[in-house]
Amino acid sequence: MMFFYRIAGVLLLVFTMLQAQEESFKKYADELGLNIGTALGYQFERNTPEHNEIVIREFNTVVAENTMKAVILHKVKGQPDFSRADKLIDFAQHHGMRVRGHTLVWHFQNADWICTGERESTLENMKFHIETVMEHFKGKVHEWDVVNEALEEAPTGKMRDSEWLRSIGPDYVDSAFAFAHRVDPDCKLFYNDFGTSVLGAKSDSMYAMVKRLLNNGIPIHGVGFQAHQTAADAVPELYLGVRWNFERFAELGLDLAITEMDVTGSDWEKQAEVYETFMRVTLELPAVKSFVVWGVRDNDSWRRSGTPLLFDDNWEPKPAYVALMNLLKDPPAAVQPFPGSRSVKSGHDSGQLLFNGKNRTLSLRNTGMVNPLPIAIYDLRGTLVASAVMSAGIPLTLASLLENEFTGTLLVCSEGGVLRVNVVR
Ligand code: XIL
Repeated sequence: MMFFYRIAGVLLLVFTMLQAQEESFKKYADELGLNIGTALGYQFERNTPEHNEIVIREFNTVVAENTMKAVILHKVKGQPDFSRADKLIDFAQHHGMRVRGHTLVWHFQNADWICTGERESTLENMKFHIETVMEHFKGKVHEWDVVNEALEEAPTGKMRDSEWLRSIGPDYVDSAFAFAHRVDPDCKLFYNDFGTSVLGAKSDSMYAMVKRLLNNGIPIHGVGFQAHQTAADAVPELYLGVRWNFERFAELGLDLAITEMDVTGSDWEKQAEVYETFMRVTLELPAVKSFVVWGVRDNDSWRRSGTPLLFDDNWEPKPAYVALMNLLKDPPAAVQPFPGSRSVKSGHDSGQLLFNGKNRTLSLRNTGMVNPLPIAIYDLRGTLVASAVMSAGIPLTLASLLENEFTGTLLVCSEGGVLRVNVVR
Protein backbone atom coordinates (compact mmCIF):
# COMPACT_ATOMS: atom_id res chain seq x y z
CA MET A 1 0.00 0.00 0.00
CA MET A 2 2.82 2.37 1.02
CA PHE A 3 4.41 1.59 -2.32
CA PHE A 4 1.23 2.47 -4.16
CA TYR A 5 1.00 5.87 -2.44
CA ARG A 6 4.58 6.59 -3.22
CA ILE A 7 4.08 5.81 -6.91
CA ALA A 8 0.93 7.93 -6.95
CA GLY A 9 2.84 10.76 -5.30
CA VAL A 10 5.62 10.59 -7.87
CA LEU A 11 3.10 10.51 -10.70
CA LEU A 12 1.31 13.54 -9.29
CA LEU A 13 4.61 15.40 -9.03
CA VAL A 14 5.53 14.55 -12.61
CA PHE A 15 2.08 15.56 -13.77
CA THR A 16 2.28 18.90 -11.93
CA MET A 17 5.73 19.54 -13.38
CA LEU A 18 4.51 18.76 -16.86
CA GLN A 19 1.59 21.10 -16.37
CA ALA A 20 3.88 23.86 -15.13
CA GLN A 21 6.08 23.30 -18.16
CA GLU A 22 3.13 23.51 -20.46
CA GLU A 23 2.31 27.02 -19.33
CA SER A 24 3.11 29.13 -22.38
CA PHE A 25 1.70 31.71 -24.74
CA LYS A 26 1.36 29.00 -27.34
CA LYS A 27 -0.76 26.75 -25.16
CA TYR A 28 -3.38 29.43 -24.57
CA ALA A 29 -3.13 31.05 -27.99
CA ASP A 30 -3.71 27.66 -29.65
CA GLU A 31 -6.85 27.25 -27.58
CA LEU A 32 -8.01 30.71 -28.64
CA GLY A 33 -7.13 30.26 -32.31
CA LEU A 34 -4.69 33.18 -32.12
CA ASN A 35 -1.45 33.31 -34.07
CA ILE A 36 1.14 34.34 -31.53
CA GLY A 37 4.45 35.03 -33.13
CA THR A 38 7.93 36.43 -33.07
CA ALA A 39 10.51 37.60 -35.58
CA LEU A 40 13.53 35.37 -36.08
CA GLY A 41 16.77 37.29 -36.49
CA TYR A 42 20.43 36.52 -36.02
CA GLN A 43 20.05 34.50 -32.81
CA PHE A 44 17.95 32.08 -34.81
CA GLU A 45 20.54 31.91 -37.56
CA ARG A 46 23.24 31.22 -34.97
CA ASN A 47 21.01 28.56 -33.50
CA THR A 48 21.38 30.04 -29.99
CA PRO A 49 19.85 27.39 -27.71
CA GLU A 50 18.25 29.75 -25.15
CA HIS A 51 16.63 31.70 -27.95
CA ASN A 52 15.28 28.76 -29.87
CA GLU A 53 13.99 27.13 -26.71
CA ILE A 54 11.85 30.18 -25.97
CA VAL A 55 10.63 30.41 -29.56
CA ILE A 56 9.61 26.75 -29.63
CA ARG A 57 7.93 26.96 -26.24
CA GLU A 58 6.04 30.24 -26.62
CA PHE A 59 5.11 30.84 -30.25
CA ASN A 60 3.04 29.17 -32.97
CA THR A 61 3.98 31.70 -35.67
CA VAL A 62 7.26 33.12 -36.94
CA VAL A 63 8.36 35.79 -39.36
CA ALA A 64 11.79 36.45 -40.82
CA GLU A 65 13.21 39.63 -39.31
CA ASN A 66 15.29 40.16 -42.45
CA THR A 67 15.83 37.04 -44.54
CA MET A 68 12.75 37.33 -46.75
CA LYS A 69 13.48 40.90 -47.78
CA ALA A 70 14.49 41.53 -51.40
CA VAL A 71 18.08 42.54 -50.61
CA ILE A 72 18.73 39.12 -49.11
CA LEU A 73 16.49 36.85 -51.20
CA HIS A 74 16.89 38.36 -54.62
CA LYS A 75 19.92 40.66 -54.72
CA VAL A 76 20.70 39.72 -58.30
CA LYS A 77 17.86 39.51 -60.79
CA GLY A 78 16.97 35.92 -61.60
CA GLN A 79 19.45 34.50 -59.11
CA PRO A 80 17.45 34.20 -55.93
CA ASP A 81 19.12 32.79 -52.83
CA PHE A 82 16.56 31.14 -50.60
CA SER A 83 19.03 29.30 -48.39
CA ARG A 84 18.61 31.39 -45.22
CA ALA A 85 14.85 31.74 -45.53
CA ASP A 86 14.46 28.04 -46.20
CA LYS A 87 16.14 27.25 -42.89
CA LEU A 88 13.46 29.30 -41.20
CA ILE A 89 10.73 27.48 -43.11
CA ASP A 90 12.22 24.09 -42.14
CA PHE A 91 12.37 25.13 -38.50
CA ALA A 92 8.78 26.35 -38.56
CA GLN A 93 7.50 23.23 -40.27
CA HIS A 94 9.41 20.99 -37.89
CA HIS A 95 7.76 22.69 -34.93
CA GLY A 96 4.31 23.08 -36.45
CA MET A 97 4.49 26.87 -36.73
CA ARG A 98 2.94 29.19 -39.27
CA VAL A 99 5.12 31.58 -41.26
CA ARG A 100 4.16 35.17 -42.11
CA GLY A 101 5.94 36.43 -45.20
CA HIS A 102 7.68 39.77 -44.79
CA THR A 103 7.98 41.65 -47.17
CA LEU A 104 7.74 41.96 -50.97
CA VAL A 105 7.57 45.68 -51.78
CA TRP A 106 9.37 48.07 -49.44
CA HIS A 107 11.52 51.16 -49.90
CA PHE A 108 14.18 49.81 -47.50
CA GLN A 109 16.31 46.66 -47.83
CA ASN A 110 15.18 46.50 -51.44
CA ALA A 111 17.22 44.94 -54.25
CA ASP A 112 18.93 47.58 -56.40
CA TRP A 113 17.80 46.22 -59.75
CA ILE A 114 14.04 46.39 -59.14
CA CYS A 115 13.30 50.11 -59.29
CA THR A 116 14.72 51.65 -62.45
CA GLY A 117 13.13 55.10 -62.32
CA GLU A 118 10.96 54.13 -65.27
CA ARG A 119 7.41 52.81 -65.01
CA GLU A 120 7.17 49.86 -67.40
CA SER A 121 10.47 48.22 -66.50
CA THR A 122 9.89 48.69 -62.78
CA LEU A 123 6.43 47.14 -63.03
CA GLU A 124 7.97 44.22 -64.90
CA ASN A 125 10.71 43.82 -62.30
CA MET A 126 8.23 44.05 -59.46
CA LYS A 127 6.11 41.37 -61.05
CA PHE A 128 9.14 39.15 -61.61
CA HIS A 129 10.31 39.56 -58.01
CA ILE A 130 6.88 38.83 -56.56
CA GLU A 131 6.49 35.77 -58.79
CA THR A 132 9.95 34.44 -58.01
CA VAL A 133 9.51 34.75 -54.27
CA MET A 134 5.88 33.76 -53.87
CA GLU A 135 6.20 30.75 -56.17
CA HIS A 136 9.05 29.47 -54.04
CA PHE A 137 7.14 29.78 -50.77
CA LYS A 138 3.75 28.71 -52.12
CA GLY A 139 1.97 26.47 -49.63
CA LYS A 140 4.54 27.28 -46.94
CA VAL A 141 3.77 30.94 -46.37
CA HIS A 142 0.06 31.58 -46.00
CA GLU A 143 0.15 35.35 -45.67
CA TRP A 144 2.45 38.01 -47.06
CA ASP A 145 3.10 41.63 -46.26
CA VAL A 146 2.86 42.55 -49.92
CA VAL A 147 3.43 46.27 -49.50
CA ASN A 148 5.23 47.72 -46.50
CA GLU A 149 5.25 51.36 -45.38
CA ALA A 150 3.89 53.09 -48.49
CA LEU A 151 2.61 56.03 -46.48
CA GLU A 152 4.40 59.10 -45.27
CA GLU A 153 4.73 59.59 -41.57
CA ALA A 154 2.10 61.64 -39.79
CA PRO A 155 0.82 64.24 -40.06
CA THR A 156 1.01 64.62 -43.84
CA GLY A 157 -0.97 61.51 -44.71
CA LYS A 158 0.61 61.40 -48.16
CA MET A 159 2.32 58.53 -49.92
CA ARG A 160 5.96 58.10 -49.03
CA ASP A 161 8.35 59.55 -51.56
CA SER A 162 10.04 56.23 -52.37
CA GLU A 163 11.73 54.80 -55.43
CA TRP A 164 8.57 52.76 -55.97
CA LEU A 165 6.43 55.88 -56.11
CA ARG A 166 8.93 57.72 -58.27
CA SER A 167 9.36 54.83 -60.70
CA ILE A 168 5.78 53.61 -61.04
CA GLY A 169 3.41 56.17 -59.51
CA PRO A 170 0.87 55.77 -56.70
CA ASP A 171 -0.80 52.73 -58.28
CA TYR A 172 2.30 50.60 -57.56
CA VAL A 173 0.42 49.45 -54.48
CA ASP A 174 -2.52 48.23 -56.58
CA SER A 175 -0.21 46.42 -58.99
CA ALA A 176 1.73 44.68 -56.24
CA PHE A 177 -1.45 43.16 -54.81
CA ALA A 178 -2.76 42.19 -58.23
CA PHE A 179 0.51 40.43 -59.16
CA ALA A 180 0.70 38.67 -55.79
CA HIS A 181 -2.86 37.38 -56.02
CA ARG A 182 -2.21 35.92 -59.45
CA VAL A 183 0.75 33.92 -58.12
CA ASP A 184 -1.05 32.46 -55.12
CA PRO A 185 -4.81 33.01 -54.94
CA ASP A 186 -4.95 31.19 -51.58
CA CYS A 187 -2.49 33.48 -49.89
CA LYS A 188 -3.72 36.28 -47.61
CA LEU A 189 -2.29 39.56 -48.77
CA PHE A 190 -1.52 42.33 -46.27
CA TYR A 191 -0.70 46.00 -46.30
CA ASN A 192 1.66 46.69 -43.37
CA ASP A 193 2.70 50.00 -41.79
CA PHE A 194 3.85 51.69 -38.59
CA GLY A 195 2.46 54.67 -36.67
CA THR A 196 -1.05 53.50 -37.49
CA SER A 197 -2.11 51.83 -34.24
CA VAL A 198 -4.45 54.53 -32.96
CA LEU A 199 -6.92 56.87 -34.57
CA GLY A 200 -4.97 59.71 -36.13
CA ALA A 201 -3.74 61.31 -39.33
CA LYS A 202 -1.64 58.39 -40.55
CA SER A 203 -4.17 55.70 -39.71
CA ASP A 204 -6.80 57.86 -41.43
CA SER A 205 -4.77 57.87 -44.61
CA MET A 206 -4.15 54.13 -44.34
CA TYR A 207 -7.87 53.63 -43.91
CA ALA A 208 -8.61 55.78 -46.96
CA MET A 209 -6.02 53.94 -49.05
CA VAL A 210 -7.22 50.48 -48.06
CA LYS A 211 -10.82 51.45 -48.70
CA ARG A 212 -9.89 52.73 -52.12
CA LEU A 213 -8.10 49.45 -52.92
CA LEU A 214 -11.15 47.45 -51.84
CA ASN A 215 -13.51 49.67 -53.84
CA ASN A 216 -11.35 49.12 -56.89
CA GLY A 217 -11.53 45.36 -56.46
CA ILE A 218 -7.86 45.03 -55.55
CA PRO A 219 -7.21 41.71 -53.75
CA ILE A 220 -6.17 42.89 -50.29
CA HIS A 221 -7.16 40.71 -47.36
CA GLY A 222 -5.53 42.20 -44.32
CA VAL A 223 -3.87 45.10 -42.62
CA GLY A 224 -0.77 44.76 -40.47
CA PHE A 225 -0.14 47.17 -37.64
CA GLN A 226 3.57 47.12 -36.88
CA ALA A 227 2.99 48.55 -33.40
CA HIS A 228 6.47 49.89 -32.72
CA GLN A 229 5.38 51.69 -29.59
CA THR A 230 6.90 53.42 -26.57
CA ALA A 231 6.08 53.11 -22.88
CA ALA A 232 4.90 56.73 -23.02
CA ASP A 233 1.95 55.47 -25.07
CA ALA A 234 0.48 54.12 -21.84
CA VAL A 235 -2.09 56.92 -21.53
CA PRO A 236 -5.77 56.48 -20.75
CA GLU A 237 -6.76 57.17 -24.36
CA LEU A 238 -4.61 54.35 -25.74
CA TYR A 239 -7.12 51.57 -25.31
CA LEU A 240 -9.95 53.28 -27.13
CA GLY A 241 -7.63 54.82 -29.69
CA VAL A 242 -6.48 51.35 -30.69
CA ARG A 243 -9.82 49.68 -30.37
CA TRP A 244 -11.83 52.16 -32.38
CA ASN A 245 -9.12 52.28 -35.00
CA PHE A 246 -9.02 48.49 -35.31
CA GLU A 247 -12.82 48.31 -35.35
CA ARG A 248 -13.09 50.49 -38.43
CA PHE A 249 -10.62 48.32 -40.35
CA ALA A 250 -12.41 45.18 -39.17
CA GLU A 251 -15.67 46.62 -40.49
CA LEU A 252 -14.13 46.62 -43.96
CA GLY A 253 -14.07 42.83 -43.70
CA LEU A 254 -10.29 42.64 -43.41
CA ASP A 255 -8.10 40.46 -41.23
CA LEU A 256 -6.02 42.45 -38.80
CA ALA A 257 -2.59 41.56 -37.47
CA ILE A 258 -0.21 43.11 -35.00
CA THR A 259 2.94 42.37 -36.92
CA GLU A 260 6.09 43.75 -35.25
CA MET A 261 5.26 44.79 -31.74
CA ASP A 262 7.91 46.23 -29.47
CA VAL A 263 7.65 48.94 -26.81
CA THR A 264 10.69 51.04 -25.89
CA GLY A 265 11.11 52.50 -22.41
CA SER A 266 12.86 51.96 -19.12
CA ASP A 267 9.61 51.83 -17.14
CA TRP A 268 8.79 48.17 -17.59
CA GLU A 269 5.43 48.45 -15.85
CA LYS A 270 4.29 51.08 -18.34
CA GLN A 271 5.77 48.97 -21.11
CA ALA A 272 3.72 46.02 -19.89
CA GLU A 273 0.62 48.20 -19.92
CA VAL A 274 1.09 49.04 -23.60
CA TYR A 275 1.60 45.40 -24.57
CA GLU A 276 -1.39 44.43 -22.49
CA THR A 277 -3.62 47.03 -24.13
CA PHE A 278 -2.79 45.71 -27.59
CA MET A 279 -3.37 42.13 -26.50
CA ARG A 280 -6.67 43.10 -24.89
CA VAL A 281 -7.92 44.62 -28.14
CA THR A 282 -6.59 41.60 -30.05
CA LEU A 283 -8.59 39.22 -27.91
CA GLU A 284 -11.70 41.40 -27.93
CA LEU A 285 -11.92 41.76 -31.71
CA PRO A 286 -12.26 38.49 -33.64
CA ALA A 287 -10.85 40.15 -36.78
CA VAL A 288 -7.42 40.42 -35.15
CA LYS A 289 -5.89 37.07 -36.00
CA SER A 290 -2.23 37.56 -35.14
CA PHE A 291 -0.12 39.12 -32.41
CA VAL A 292 3.54 39.13 -33.41
CA VAL A 293 6.42 40.64 -31.41
CA TRP A 294 9.60 41.80 -33.13
CA GLY A 295 12.12 39.49 -31.46
CA VAL A 296 12.70 37.66 -28.22
CA ARG A 297 15.35 39.33 -26.07
CA ASP A 298 16.01 43.06 -25.51
CA ASN A 299 19.67 42.74 -26.39
CA ASP A 300 18.92 41.45 -29.88
CA SER A 301 16.30 44.01 -30.80
CA TRP A 302 16.77 46.55 -33.57
CA ARG A 303 15.74 49.07 -30.85
CA ARG A 304 17.89 47.46 -28.15
CA SER A 305 18.70 50.70 -26.31
CA GLY A 306 15.00 50.93 -25.49
CA THR A 307 14.76 47.42 -23.96
CA PRO A 308 11.54 46.90 -25.93
CA LEU A 309 10.88 43.15 -25.84
CA LEU A 310 9.36 40.54 -23.53
CA PHE A 311 12.57 38.91 -22.30
CA ASP A 312 15.54 40.62 -20.66
CA ASP A 313 19.17 40.13 -21.57
CA ASN A 314 19.33 36.96 -19.46
CA TRP A 315 16.36 35.46 -21.31
CA GLU A 316 14.19 36.04 -18.24
CA PRO A 317 10.55 37.06 -18.78
CA LYS A 318 9.75 40.71 -18.03
CA PRO A 319 6.54 42.22 -16.60
CA ALA A 320 5.17 42.55 -20.13
CA TYR A 321 5.47 38.80 -20.59
CA VAL A 322 3.57 38.18 -17.36
CA ALA A 323 0.87 40.68 -18.35
CA LEU A 324 0.34 39.00 -21.73
CA MET A 325 0.29 35.55 -20.17
CA ASN A 326 -2.36 36.60 -17.65
CA LEU A 327 -4.57 37.96 -20.40
CA LEU A 328 -4.16 34.88 -22.57
CA LYS A 329 -5.06 32.69 -19.61
CA ASP A 330 -8.12 34.73 -18.76
CA PRO A 331 -9.15 36.43 -22.00
CA PRO A 332 -11.66 39.29 -22.08
CA ALA A 333 -15.01 38.77 -23.77
CA ALA A 334 -15.58 40.04 -27.29
CA VAL A 335 -16.69 43.67 -27.26
CA GLN A 336 -19.71 45.35 -28.71
CA PRO A 337 -18.73 48.08 -31.15
CA PHE A 338 -19.18 51.61 -29.79
CA PRO A 339 -22.53 53.02 -30.95
CA GLY A 340 -21.34 56.45 -32.09
CA SER A 341 -18.77 57.32 -34.67
CA ARG A 342 -15.21 57.00 -33.50
CA SER A 343 -12.91 59.83 -32.70
CA VAL A 344 -10.44 60.47 -29.98
CA LYS A 345 -9.27 64.03 -30.19
CA SER A 346 -5.67 64.56 -29.31
CA GLY A 347 -6.46 67.48 -27.03
CA HIS A 348 -9.18 66.62 -24.58
CA ASP A 349 -11.08 68.55 -21.97
CA SER A 350 -10.89 67.29 -18.48
CA GLY A 351 -12.83 67.63 -15.32
CA GLN A 352 -12.94 66.47 -11.78
CA LEU A 353 -15.89 64.77 -10.25
CA LEU A 354 -15.97 64.87 -6.47
CA PHE A 355 -17.97 62.08 -5.00
CA ASN A 356 -19.40 63.77 -1.94
CA GLY A 357 -22.19 66.10 -1.07
CA LYS A 358 -23.11 68.77 -3.52
CA ASN A 359 -19.94 68.39 -5.53
CA ARG A 360 -21.08 65.26 -7.29
CA THR A 361 -22.26 67.31 -10.13
CA LEU A 362 -19.97 67.44 -13.11
CA SER A 363 -22.52 68.04 -15.78
CA LEU A 364 -22.13 67.21 -19.41
CA ARG A 365 -23.86 69.32 -21.98
CA ASN A 366 -24.80 68.34 -25.44
CA THR A 367 -24.36 71.50 -27.49
CA GLY A 368 -26.62 70.14 -30.16
CA MET A 369 -24.27 69.50 -33.08
CA VAL A 370 -25.33 65.87 -32.88
CA ASN A 371 -28.69 65.28 -31.31
CA PRO A 372 -29.39 62.94 -29.66
CA LEU A 373 -25.78 62.15 -28.79
CA PRO A 374 -24.79 58.68 -27.58
CA ILE A 375 -22.06 58.68 -24.96
CA ALA A 376 -20.18 55.79 -23.42
CA ILE A 377 -18.17 55.92 -20.23
CA TYR A 378 -15.18 53.63 -19.90
CA ASP A 379 -12.76 53.05 -17.09
CA LEU A 380 -9.06 52.80 -17.80
CA ARG A 381 -9.24 49.06 -18.34
CA GLY A 382 -11.65 49.71 -21.14
CA THR A 383 -14.63 48.37 -19.26
CA LEU A 384 -17.87 50.04 -20.13
CA VAL A 385 -19.05 51.67 -16.91
CA ALA A 386 -22.18 53.36 -18.22
CA SER A 387 -23.76 54.62 -21.39
CA ALA A 388 -26.44 57.16 -22.10
CA VAL A 389 -28.04 59.19 -24.83
CA MET A 390 -27.96 62.94 -24.33
CA SER A 391 -30.44 65.39 -25.70
CA ALA A 392 -29.42 68.88 -26.70
CA GLY A 393 -29.93 71.47 -23.99
CA ILE A 394 -30.53 68.98 -21.20
CA PRO A 395 -27.48 68.63 -18.96
CA LEU A 396 -26.60 65.19 -17.72
CA THR A 397 -25.08 64.84 -14.26
CA LEU A 398 -22.29 62.37 -14.53
CA ALA A 399 -22.62 61.20 -10.94
CA SER A 400 -26.14 60.00 -11.67
CA LEU A 401 -24.70 57.38 -14.00
CA LEU A 402 -22.10 55.97 -11.64
CA GLU A 403 -22.00 53.60 -8.74
CA ASN A 404 -21.49 55.47 -5.51
CA GLU A 405 -18.26 53.75 -4.59
CA PHE A 406 -16.52 54.44 -7.87
CA THR A 407 -13.23 56.33 -7.80
CA GLY A 408 -10.63 56.67 -10.51
CA THR A 409 -10.28 58.11 -13.97
CA LEU A 410 -13.06 57.77 -16.48
CA LEU A 411 -13.26 58.49 -20.15
CA VAL A 412 -16.51 59.95 -21.34
CA CYS A 413 -16.56 59.20 -25.03
CA SER A 414 -18.75 60.64 -27.69
CA GLU A 415 -18.56 61.70 -31.26
CA GLY A 416 -17.12 65.02 -30.10
CA GLY A 417 -14.11 63.44 -28.47
CA VAL A 418 -13.07 62.20 -25.09
CA LEU A 419 -13.59 63.96 -21.81
CA ARG A 420 -11.30 62.79 -19.08
CA VAL A 421 -12.77 62.85 -15.60
CA ASN A 422 -11.11 62.09 -12.29
CA VAL A 423 -13.57 60.81 -9.76
CA VAL A 424 -12.30 61.44 -6.24
CA ARG A 425 -13.68 61.24 -2.75
C1 XIL B 1 14.20 45.90 -39.20
C2 XIL B 1 15.04 44.78 -38.63
O1 XIL B 1 14.58 44.50 -37.35
C3 XIL B 1 16.50 45.17 -38.60
O2 XIL B 1 17.31 44.07 -38.22
C4 XIL B 1 16.94 45.68 -39.98
O3 XIL B 1 18.26 46.16 -39.90
C5 XIL B 1 16.03 46.77 -40.47
O4 XIL B 1 14.69 46.31 -40.46
N1 XIL B 1 9.61 47.92 -40.09
C6 XIL B 1 9.68 46.73 -40.74
C7 XIL B 1 10.74 45.75 -40.39
O5 XIL B 1 8.79 46.42 -41.53
O6 XIL B 1 11.13 44.98 -41.48
C8 XIL B 1 11.93 46.44 -39.80
O7 XIL B 1 12.88 45.45 -39.36
C9 XIL B 1 11.52 47.33 -38.67
C10 XIL B 1 10.58 48.40 -39.14
